[in-house]
Amino acid sequence: MAWFGARRRGIIQTIRTITEMKAWSDRIRQAQETIAFVPTMGYFHAGHLALMREARRRGNRVVVSVFVNPTQFGPKEDFNAYPRDIDRDLAMAESAGVDIVFTPSAADMYPAGADTFIRQERLPVHLCGLSRPGHFTGVLTVVAKLFNIVNPHAAVFGQKDWQQLAIIRKMTTDLNFDVDIIGHPTVREPDGLAMSSRNARLDPNLREAALCLYRSLAAAEGQIRNGVTDVAALIRAAEKQITAYPQNRIDYVRICDPDTLDDINTITGPALMALAVGVGDVRLIDNTLLRPGDQSLDTRDCRNMTGLPKTQSKE
Ligand code: PAJ
Repeated sequence: MAWFGARRRGIIQTIRTITEMKAWSDRIRQAQETIAFVPTMGYFHAGHLALMREARRRGNRVVVSVFVNPTQFGPKEDFNAYPRDIDRDLAMAESAGVDIVFTPSAADMYPAGADTFIRQERLPVHLCGLSRPGHFTGVLTVVAKLFNIVNPHAAVFGQKDWQQLAIIRKMTTDLNFDVDIIGHPTVREPDGLAMSSRNARLDPNLREAALCLYRSLAAAEGQIRNGVTDVAALIRAAEKQITAYPQNRIDYVRICDPDTLDDINTITGPALMALAVGVGDVRLIDNTLLRPGDQSLDTRDCRNMTGLPKTQSKE
């Protein structure tokens, strides 16, 4: 549509500036419509599209941001190598019923002199926070900024990044954002590999080695069904399976409390099993909620993850 110079491509529009995005959001809110938001770094796959379809169910209007956020990448991480293809992304977002794709520039998001960051104390000292110092500060800062700019009623995040989802939920509560945070289960390839934009960087040899992340989670679920409760034994078995491939380098294999992310020793109730593995030079993560005597991978319901009423589905 013509307002604010938003570019029209088919029925999807791109908005590039913060000013235009805020004005669009104000206008939609004034019309008593609701906005569901999916923040992303682009290079979409079926996992992103599932989040967009969930957003479609949660609001009258769906906004997706595509912004490869420099502040969440460490100096030795893959910011430059991160895959990008905005035309492909726009076509895919359109197929998922998205109204607006917001593509701010780094200069607009972080003008010279920007000096305020959001740091959380407890949840980031676990899992990915240990090997990626500053990562979650970058994530929280950009998500808070995006919430202020897009001003959504609801925002959808993937459970593949369980720790990220937990940290964003906590920030939303702690800083009184009026945004309903919705978690969505991990979407997988037919053979079980969790969808990730980084999978595009796996050659056939690494693709084969990458499958052991899923396999080791599924094996742990099998062991739990057989009555194993000793966390050390479950972790040892997973490590063995992962390092059977010389291409793989373990960052962490942890079993922890799904809410606090503190390590646990024995499985007595729902427990999060989380992995991070360098497959060649591609860092992949995956996780599953282990439930003694219960369900298998991908049948879990992430909306129960914290027990907060906000996370529960209407479905
Ligand atoms: P990105 O990696 O692009 O992921 C965007 C959203 O898609 C996140 O909520 C992520 O958890 C979700 N997602 C990724 N793979 C998924 C899968 N296989 N199944 C379900 N959901 C999946 O996460 C980020 O971007 C950034 O850190 C961001 C939140 C946008 C802040 O910059």
